[in-house]
Amino acid sequence: MSRSEVVTRKSAQEIEYMFESNQIAARALSLLRENIKPGVTTEKLNKIAHEYILSQNAYPLFLGYMSYPKSICTSVNEEVVHGIPSKKRILEEGDLVSIDVGVIKNNYCGDSAITVPVGNVSELAARLIRVTEESLYVGISKAVCGGYLGDVSNAIQTYVESHGFSVVRDYVGHGIGRKLHEPPAVPNFGRKGMGIKLEAGICIAIEPMVNAGRYDVRVLDNSWTVVTCDKSLSAHFEHTVAITENGTRILSKAQ
Ligand code: MF3
Ligand code: CO
Repeated sequence: MSRSEVVTRKSAQEIEYMFESNQIAARALSLLRENIKPGVTTEKLNKIAHEYILSQNAYPLFLGYMSYPKSICTSVNEEVVHGIPSKKRILEEGDLVSIDVGVIKNNYCGDSAITVPVGNVSELAARLIRVTEESLYVGISKAVCGGYLGDVSNAIQTYVESHGFSVVRDYVGHGIGRKLHEPPAVPNFGRKGMGIKLEAGICIAIEPMVNAGRYDVRVLDNSWTVVTCDKSLSAHFEHTVAITENGTRILSKAQ
């Protein structure tokens, strides 16, 4: 096994650094939520997050990551993840927008995402947002010492599908620490008891991507934006969590 496949366990000090980065991500998301209304551009949201993160002596982790051009991802309606902020994209009443924020400070990463309704949205959009966020917490409840990664994946999939929605297969959550993406991969579908055993010190980003229609997705010509093939709505929530002997800590939950 090469070193890059090893799941590292973080010390208490490392988890404190990750908490600090994730709290900045959480506060950036709260600030963005307050600013989401009809008429605002996704570029404006990018600017707000970028300036806030720098003001905290931190750096927007996504900017320049694999040549990604912006500081956050903004994915509207049928866009699943990795939507690129643009001054041409003006949010409209009834849209839903997924915002993904990454932060690095003291060499440790934070990663969190929310989906927000723009003004009044359809009953379907509201239900999709609610079920996706609930599925994240259902998954987190299984991320405990002694459990298996597959328990997390299976709990998310079962919850989402019981509500008639589908879980994206082509993109998954991930381990996180000094790097944005570390082992293990954290799928939002799978079987109980499968995958690695969860131990104290493991830090993972759990991020269900849920489609109102079929699970198939494709990437647009800009080589970033992921959209649903059937053009159905999609939602995304993400938390970075640390598994410890004293329970699971949601590092990106605002405190
Ligand atoms: N939360 C996403 C992830 O875990 C965002 C990365 S997008 C990129 O992959 F912009 F950084 F590429
Ligand atoms: Co992530």
